[in-house]
Amino acid sequence: MAHASDEDYARILVTSALPYANGPAHLGHLAGAYLPGDIYCRFQRLMGRDVVYICGSDEHGVAIIMRAREEGVSPQEIVDRYHPMLRDGFEAFGMSFDHYGRTSSPKHHEMSQAFFAEIAAKNKFVLKKESQLYDPEAKLFLADRFVRGKCPNTSCGYEEAYGDQCEKCGRSMSPKELIDPRSAITDAKPELKETTHWYLPLDEVQGWLEQWLDGHGEWKPNVLGQAKSWLKEGLRERSMTRDLPWGVPVPSAVAEAAGVDAEGKVLYVWFDAPIGYISSTCEWAEAVGEPDRWRDYWGQEDTKLVHFIGKDNIVFHCLIFPAMLKLHGDFVLPDNVPANEFLNIEGKKLSTSRGWAVWLHEFLEEFPADYLRYSLLGVLPETKDSDFSWKDFQSRVNNELADTFGNFVNRSLTFAKRFFDGKVPELVAPNELDKGMLQAIAEAPAAIAEHLENYRFRDAGDAMMGIARHANKYFNDSEPWATRKSDAQKCANTIHVSLQVSAALSIVCEPFLPFTAAAMREMLALDGVRSSTRSEGAGGLGWHDAARPLMTSGSPLGEPVILFQKVEDERVQAQIDKLEAAAAPPEPRGGPYEPLSDTIVYDDFAKLDLRVALVTEAERVPKSKKLLRCQVDLGFEKRQVLAGVAEHLSPEDLIGKKVVMVANLAPRKMMGLESQGMLLMATEREGRLLPVWTEGEPGSTVA
Ligand code: MF3
Ligand code: ZN
Repeated sequence: MAHASDEDYARILVTSALPYANGPAHLGHLAGAYLPGDIYCRFQRLMGRDVVYICGSDEHGVAIIMRAREEGVSPQEIVDRYHPMLRDGFEAFGMSFDHYGRTSSPKHHEMSQAFFAEIAAKNKFVLKKESQLYDPEAKLFLADRFVRGKCPNTSCGYEEAYGDQCEKCGRSMSPKELIDPRSAITDAKPELKETTHWYLPLDEVQGWLEQWLDGHGEWKPNVLGQAKSWLKEGLRERSMTRDLPWGVPVPSAVAEAAGVDAEGKVLYVWFDAPIGYISSTCEWAEAVGEPDRWRDYWGQEDTKLVHFIGKDNIVFHCLIFPAMLKLHGDFVLPDNVPANEFLNIEGKKLSTSRGWAVWLHEFLEEFPADYLRYSLLGVLPETKDSDFSWKDFQSRVNNELADTFGNFVNRSLTFAKRFFDGKVPELVAPNELDKGMLQAIAEAPAAIAEHLENYRFRDAGDAMMGIARHANKYFNDSEPWATRKSDAQKCANTIHVSLQVSAALSIVCEPFLPFTAAAMREMLALDGVRSSTRSEGAGGLGWHDAARPLMTSGSPLGEPVILFQKVEDERVQAQIDKLEAAAAPPEPRGGPYEPLSDTIVYDDFAKLDLRVALVTEAERVPKSKKLLRCQVDLGFEKRQVLAGVAEHLSPEDLIGKKVVMVANLAPRKMMGLESQGMLLMATEREGRLLPVWTEGEPGSTVA
């Protein structure tokens, strides 16, 4: 079937999978569903297209309840903690969502209940009374991840398979299919107990799904392959409700009509979560003051709907959600689901429970977002699992961003500043090299666009960096430092062309490196480029304008700044060490206690002047693994104290807290910085350090 081009659509609706609000975002999230989605949306907005980009936190389901149980807090507390962390982390990473919602919102509850009621009203559900696994100790039905056991797939047999899916072979199942099931909460052997649920008859829509997917031969092979193998196995009816204490309640009217007690019944998380895309769009429409506008995106055939997800979500986005949309009847179906495979870290499978993960917020404490965006771009698991390594990160930042891209832009701008009065010099009688360079930028936007429109983000990134590489070589080969003395016009031409290339790069790099793009345009004093974070229509300079010279001869430039700092070996090693330390099994407790020191008399002790100190600031000392530089308030004066605790405590652990400090220790220098005191720490037998917290006003004596 002919595949429509982007021009055939009036608007583009893009979603990235709603992450579970049971932890912060990590590199695996970003490489799977978020960075590609953001690149795509920024590019489409620069094309002048009408884009709405939707995401939000998935706050229901067993994953959240489990986390809450582990910590002994309510699910609400868990989602209230992680929803803002996810949202803020994504924002700092440059994710250009038009709206980031959450599935605990009233709007979402209302819409997912209405969706459920509509399918019920159309008589599409099958109501079934069945015996299900029940944990008599926890007094809970063991849905989904609440139960583990041996995978029923004989060629797999994984012992730790979940009740909804085997993580090893990917097979989806119902808990009763598990061999030797046991409760993931109490480890109890489950009993069978009767309960009634609403099932979606996926078997009945199988034929329609097959036909629909057959019309999408252009989808990525990894996606089609997985979806088709599900279809080959044959779809079975799947329960869309659960007996759980947390989630969107089954609408009481639907339950009443069916003669079922709705008490304790909620919608299946994979029923309500994708509806989160719709409710989040609805919240966006309200926020922009056009409350009905969400219907244009969800209700019209000329909307292009694209879901960015990781491969573990393929079945839900390619089969179950489309089936729901089809049965409901009012909504547009996805045009594409460009799912990514998984990202490993340093050659090992990412695992948050085993501590083998790189967390977005921790990364951003150390490096700018664009460094991560660029290094991830190079290893996106587009067709197969791929690997992130810190060494690769370092080489991409140093060799490509700093030495190639940044070096070229910086040399062009500094040259213009020093020798051309900070203005764009004129181009007169360009030579072959100059023309070749201008030709390259004339072709670049279309070539990169072709990759992006077809979800080939790595290729697009390579093509973008290819321009910078060409430009860097052009600059070298043109030797403006030599022609400046021998042939002034030739030198002017080189700088003119280089500034044109920088301007073009500032546009075509924006989807990948949005923070860098902004800094470049500041330096170039190039205004009028349309936003890549909000659709502003086709006004201003857009993607294809990057193909033509945008800098006017004689126009003044801004101040050159260094775009990228090289990442030193020590900083990379520190990250590798940190990863390994986090993943190391906890040291066995115990071991010998420190022997007691020699007896002292009171006068020895009285020499110490101990005080209550409030830590007002704390930061890592660059290039030091151990030291935190703290500013403390003693009430009567402020001091700087260096504490050798950075391997155990982060600045946030100390800021705003009160600790006991030795206030009369002679000052001493460490790493060139003066330490004017010492914070007392408890050292546990296995070496962990813990501050000696205290109460009382700063400056109080302690004895
Ligand atoms: N929370 C799910 C996950 O992290 C993804 C939900 S995507 C949605 O795997 F479609 F349901 F929203
Ligand atoms: Zn399996």
